[in-house]
Amino acid sequence: MRIFLVGFSGSGKSTLAKKLAKLLNYTCIDMDSFFVQNYRMSISECFLAYGEQFFREKEKELLIEIIEKDDIVVAVGGGTPCFENNMDLMNQNGLTIYIQMSPSVLYNRLKEHTEHRPILAASNDLLLTITNLLKNRNPFYNQAKITIQGINLTAKKIVQIIKEYEEK
Ligand code: S3P
Repeated sequence: MRIFLVGFSGSGKSTLAKKLAKLLNYTCIDMDSFFVQNYRMSISECFLAYGEQFFREKEKELLIEIIEKDDIVVAVGGGTPCFENNMDLMNQNGLTIYIQMSPSVLYNRLKEHTEHRPILAASNDLLLTITNLLKNRNPFYNQAKITIQGINLTAKKIVQIIKEYEEK
């Protein structure tokens, strides 16, 4: 079983993935940390030195490596589902869950935490950037098999929703 948590930066994917993996006794893979470990550079450094397209290609290679593994919960990078066929790859190889949050909630959660997120760090109107990006990304995120509201979400609740989904 592979579980992919997708959604915008700040929606809680990393924290929830860690807790969910613990509950299920799975391995947690945080794609951003996996990237840093593999390529020995931060995401900001990568964007600065090689640009976004290069980052997306490397991220895709990591995703292909990740789907070889089993019993994992993956905190997927915010932009990963929107590149090439990444969303199809995840849907074909596991259970995708979209952690949904509104632009204003995301804005409040992200406003002090953009430094390691080059796309958001470059913005001079963060709320507008989040709103526009989310509009473009929702068609991809909405391809997830399950959508869950992110506010007050717990790993326990995700387990319950997965069970209900599997019983359907
Ligand atoms: C990105 C989100 C980040 C990281 C990179 C690009 C994006 O991941 O992969 O900065 O395009 O939204 P998080 O969703 O973990 O913040």
